[in-house]
Order: sequence, then C-alpha cells, then structure tokens
Amino acid sequence: MIERFGHGGDLDTAAAEFGVAPDSILDFSANINPLGPPEGLMERLRQELHSVIHYPDPDHRELRKLLAQRTELEPSSICIGNGAAECMALAVLGLAPRNVGIVTPCFSEYMQLARQFGANVVAAQGGEENGFRAGTAELCNLLERTDLVFIGQPNNPTGLQYDMSTLETVLERAEETDTYIVLDEAFIDFIPPERQATMLPRLPKYPHLIVIRSLTKFYAIPGLRLGFAAAHPETIGRMKRKQVTWSVNRLALAAGECCLAAGETYERMTRERTAEERAFLIETLERDFGCRTWPSEANFILVRLPAPWTAERMQAELGRIGVLIRNCSMYEGLTAADIRIAVKDRKANERLIEAMKEVWPGGMRQ
Ligand SMILES: Cc1ncc(COP(=O)(O)O)c(C=O)c1O
Repeated sequence: MIERFGHGGDLDTAAAEFGVAPDSILDFSANINPLGPPEGLMERLRQELHSVIHYPDPDHRELRKLLAQRTELEPSSICIGNGAAECMALAVLGLAPRNVGIVTPCFSEYMQLARQFGANVVAAQGGEENGFRAGTAELCNLLERTDLVFIGQPNNPTGLQYDMSTLETVLERAEETDTYIVLDEAFIDFIPPERQATMLPRLPKYPHLIVIRSLTKFYAIPGLRLGFAAAHPETIGRMKRKQVTWSVNRLALAAGECCLAAGETYERMTRERTAEERAFLIETLERDFGCRTWPSEANFILVRLPAPWTAERMQAELGRIGVLIRNCSMYEGLTAADIRIAVKDRKANERLIEAMKEVWPGGMRQ
C-alpha cells in the first residue's frame, strides 16, 4: 500500500511500487503550494548553510518573536515545532490525555499520536450530508467523553471548515468539561483571510484551546519541517517541557523568518491561484468523468469516483504513468471509491486530467 506510513507524499514507496524514478513523479498526494517557496528563500538557505556548524537556538527566540508580532500574542504563548506534526505530538505528550476525541474522516496522525502515546481514541463520525463534519451536539458529546479533541480546521481530507459559532459553542463547553481542543489550522492560510474561521485571535479567551499552524504547506517547505502551536502560556510550558532540545534545526528557523517576510503578493497569489485551479479541477472532474466532489476551501479536493472505478485501481493506473494521487479508502467513514487530489498549477492539473483520460477513456462523458 502506498500509504503504508499513513500519509500522502511518500514518493519512495510509490516509485518502488510503480517502477518509476521518485523525482519523475507528479505528486498530487501531498498538498503543497505549487508556487513553491517565497522568492529569496533558497538564497537565504544557501547563505545559512555555513551556520550548520552551530547548534540552533533551543528556545527559537527570534522566530517566536516574529510569530508573536504577526499573531498579536505573547512569545510565551507560542511553541515552534518540527512541523505541525511535532506540535500535535507535544500537545498529546504535554497534556497526557487519557481519552482523545476525533471526528472521522480526519488526518490519520491524530489517532496515530494518541495511540503512540498511550491514549484511547474516541471517534465520532462526521455526517456525509454535512461534508463529514460533526454537528454541535455531537462535538459537545465528544467533549464529555474525552480530555483532548483534535479538529481539522479546515479538515483533511475534506477541505471544509467549521463555522465560528459552532467552534465558539464547542470551546465554551470545553472549558466546562475540562477538555483541550486542538484546532489544526495547518491549511487555513490557503483560505482568503476574510473567510478563515480561525480562533487564533480569540485564543486568550479559551485556556483549553491550542491552535496549530504549519509553514510546510503554504510556504512549500515540507522537507525542512516547521510549524507552531499557540495556546495559554501554561499549556505551552507543558508542551515545551516534552520537546526534544534542538528538534527544530537552524535551516528551518531561518526559512521560517524568510517565509514570514514573504509579503502580501505571494500570499494573495497563492490564494487566488488555489481558488481558480480548484474550481477548474472540480468542474472538469464532474463534467468529464462524472466524479462527485466536496466543496473544499483548501488546496486539495476529496473526490468520489463513479463505479466501477476504485481508488486503488485509479491510483495504480495513474502511478504507472507517473502521476500519484492519494487513495482515501482507508479513511474511517469514506468509501473504496474515494481519492484526494492536491490543487497544483494549471500545467500539472491539465496533466492529471490528461492522465485520467489515458487510463479511463470510457470515463469521458459525451
Ligand atoms: C491536516 C494536517 N495537519 C498537519 C499536517 C502536518 O503538517 P507539517 O508538515 O507541518 O508537520 C498535515 C500533513 O499532511 C495535515 O494534513
């Protein structure tokens, strides 16, 4: 199975399975900004290379200061991690929940981390009619039975957000039930600011809230690893005490400073292109192939293939011609026909459509 480690973007496994070179694969299984990193980032990394003879700052002071300015929080409310993934691990380690709640389908790491660090997993099933989101009552019910709940905002693999009023109800109830809420906002930067249902500015109001952000997707540096968590300073303290010293390396810290200075044009262009290309893919997949899609706000799309196609077969057929998609059949609550594709640039997106036509000429609607 290509997703043997639970994720997309595993080029080595795909290359071995499909008999192609890893760097020849057009990867739609990881959701990375097709514009690439901001201008100047590679140059900054080249300049920074000489400094790898020194240890990184174990307290990440400069980057925390910059993030504090940007988020209008205190540096003591911020913890930098080796990707959003490390921040999630630190939340589980630092808060030591006995029962962790999730709403399926969701990012597999929530369950994986809970199990890895000895917690039970309590799952609620998101309703298909509601874009696989749980209702407010179901979420509140989940809080009663758990010490920490992960919520994808927007959720992966659906790309849908909860609205602010649902989140506020849940966060207020979480204060009463003494349940931590980890809002995973790893993909929220792809949404235009006026549509982002983010709780970051309301953080001081909710001592049980932890917001996690990633820099790897929006700024296209998944190989460097960088993310951060924002929460009450006491929660951040508990998380940081579990962090391996120097887990965030010097190059990643320098890259972070550079990404935060990327500027409005890069951010706006990324969001505009994502929206345009997502609309192009959704329209083409529905019109030409009869696929069903969900109205994602992120840079990926959950797609249901029509019968007799299965995700496994589509992945294998495309893989053999060098295009990698994410098989979503193993997500709790999804079906054998479900795939997820990243939103890339027009050239790559056209190649995906062309590749699908090659392997599926009968799928073309007249
Ligand atoms: C929903 C979600 N959150 C977090 C992550 C991890 O992000 P990072 O690369 O910053 O560790 C991923 C990676 O795919 C993801 O899909």
